[in-house]
Amino acid sequence: MKANLYYLLIISLYFAPFNNCVMAQEKSIEKNIDSLLQQMTLEEKVGQMNQYNGFWDVTGPAPQGGNAEIKYEHLKKGLVGSMLNVVGTEEVRKLQKLVVEETRLGIPLIFGYDVIHGYKTLAPIPLAEAASWDMEAIENSAKIAAQEASAVGLNWTFAPMVDISRDPRWGRVMEGGGEDTYLGAEIAKARVKGFQGDDLSKPNTLAACAKHFAAYGFAEAGKEYNTADIGTSTLYNAVLPPFKAAVDADVKTLMNGFNILNGIPVTGNKMLQRDILKEKWGFDGFVISDWSSVGEMVPHGFAEDLKHAAELGVKAGSDMDMESSAYVLHLVENVKEGKVDESLIDDAVRRILRVKFELGLFEDPYKYCNEEREKEELYHEDHQAAVLDMALKSIVLLKNDDNLLPLKKDQQKIAVIGQLANDNNSSLGSWRLGSDNNTGVSVLEGLKNQSINFSYEQGPRIFNEEANFLNEVKVNETDTSGMQEAVALAKESDVVLMVLGEHGFQSGEGRSRTQLDLPGLQLDLLKAVHEVNKNIVMILMNGRPLAIHWEAENIPAILETWQLGSQAGNAITEALFGDYNPSGKLPMTFPRSVGQVPIYYNHFSTGRPDPESTVFWTHYGDEKNEPLFPFGYGLSYTTFKYTDLEIDTNNQNSIEVSATIQNTGKVTGKEVVQLYIHDKVASVVRPVKELKGFQKISLAPGASQKVTFILTDKELGFYNHDYEFVVEPGTFGVMVGTNSQEGLTGTFVLN
Ligand code: BGC
Repeated sequence: MKANLYYLLIISLYFAPFNNCVMAQEKSIEKNIDSLLQQMTLEEKVGQMNQYNGFWDVTGPAPQGGNAEIKYEHLKKGLVGSMLNVVGTEEVRKLQKLVVEETRLGIPLIFGYDVIHGYKTLAPIPLAEAASWDMEAIENSAKIAAQEASAVGLNWTFAPMVDISRDPRWGRVMEGGGEDTYLGAEIAKARVKGFQGDDLSKPNTLAACAKHFAAYGFAEAGKEYNTADIGTSTLYNAVLPPFKAAVDADVKTLMNGFNILNGIPVTGNKMLQRDILKEKWGFDGFVISDWSSVGEMVPHGFAEDLKHAAELGVKAGSDMDMESSAYVLHLVENVKEGKVDESLIDDAVRRILRVKFELGLFEDPYKYCNEEREKEELYHEDHQAAVLDMALKSIVLLKNDDNLLPLKKDQQKIAVIGQLANDNNSSLGSWRLGSDNNTGVSVLEGLKNQSINFSYEQGPRIFNEEANFLNEVKVNETDTSGMQEAVALAKESDVVLMVLGEHGFQSGEGRSRTQLDLPGLQLDLLKAVHEVNKNIVMILMNGRPLAIHWEAENIPAILETWQLGSQAGNAITEALFGDYNPSGKLPMTFPRSVGQVPIYYNHFSTGRPDPESTVFWTHYGDEKNEPLFPFGYGLSYTTFKYTDLEIDTNNQNSIEVSATIQNTGKVTGKEVVQLYIHDKVASVVRPVKELKGFQKISLAPGASQKVTFILTDKELGFYNHDYEFVVEPGTFGVMVGTNSQEGLTGTFVLN
């Protein structure tokens, strides 16, 4: 029976009149879905809405006993629509075969995985990529990730994470595009395009998943899984636009999240998932819950039990249940008891089947299981070259007093100090489930690859080496062995490269911190070295902005290298010695101290923003208001001069803002020219500054370029409390500059 239907589908697709008109293709997909839905039992429909985690070695015998046995039985009965964490063509093929050949209807599975910044070959962590402000490079990086991941049988990635976050205490800032909505929306588009390509049915693309819908990045106090409580203005204007951008870029799926938003768990939030996403934005893909987040509505105090959670989840528009089993165990019952209308089930299943059709899984369920490709693609040298390029573009030069950088390749006695310099793991960052440990090029290896002479001392050991994705990183706070040797080496050297920062697994999911300083004894080590040699280049490796106040005041050169992925050491060496001129700009504000957090450039003005002679104005008694390094900040080995701001208001539908940028230094460099606006008076107050455009240009020494931005309603308007997009006449401030704090300013009036 099943096989017949399966071949019927293939035949109907095969004989469908061949034309490349998308509408016709869509119609035929919808017809195929109709025909499938008609034949599905309620149980089978609910099965499509169920996703299980990989559970046993599928290359071995079927599992015996417990949870795994139940899952196996469910697979055979057609009660599973998708698997996550099953990788490798062999494993994927076996499971697919089981479902295609043994279930009544043979509907193929979709295989999901967290392909966050690469599969085997790793690009920089997403926050680092955001620092490149280079959308072409970011798109390409996602394309490479899709290329490798699709070669191991996968066809769906749980990325991009497009959560805006203003709180570096939250460990997952490493996984997103930073604090800014405009930049975040551009990155969301680029990453969706990169993963999905121009044709989802090609075997080297993945369906993307914009997550976590919504406001997960606003977890109170940066504490993982915590509540988000934000107003509608922030939700509509700061949080939702990157999701909308992903939807406009045709993202196929969205993931909701673990958090409560304004009293309602987002997994059970109808307003977000049905009213906004599916109705207002016209999203026709499907929504997956986060891991067990349907079930977690019980401890949240929103659902009575798992059955109630299933009812609430589906009513709210969560189409697929990741791993909580709420749907597969209780939805049929909920429908039979009249608690859930079957049309809601049909809608969810239609969405899931649509993505499966678009992926081409009905034409060939094994199209992602090409063993030859699997052998060829992983760690391909082209991928290594692409992630090196991305790594270079992600580096941010934070400080460079007296042009200490770039260093000369000879003529200097170079010391390298710090455990992270000799670490092949940390630069790979977090969220790298498919990768192999110790496959990152360390800083020491990078230097050797370029034949740089240096001496190395680790200094005190800071991190336990065996730290992994699941376990807390243990930090040494007391054992100073190695300190003396490091200081002695620094003393006899001309320049000291201090490689300091966070362990690769100190950021990511479940990795919140209350302190944002250098962990363990690293600051003690740095201070001790500084006592004997001031010629220090600090190479920072970290998954989030750090509060490095002392360092920024005392260390002459600081290179922000985040966690740059497989090619980290090579990229860092190129930047240190001037083979590459850094051009990255911070996608998140660096605070002076944790107490300033959340600190972000696009805040509102208080009623008392300016210094007063008394204490009654907006400030701290013990800290400045200003950040350590603002959003958009980053230096170069050359310098740029901004002149000639022009604002042309003579066009009917747009305002043209331009400025001339000149390279006033001695080497070629790239600059990210940034445009900010300020709607001075509005019916809902607007931030003191908002990024509304950027362009990355390259200039030879002495050369200059006029850069023009076009502002239309899209950039000038905002969402009011009723989620209506409005453009209000009035005066706007405008700034074109090198970061969010420095630039040429002017005003214009919008009539
Ligand atoms: C994370 C998601 C991820 C999922 C599957 C959850 O813990 O929040 O972002 O996609 O696990 O691994």
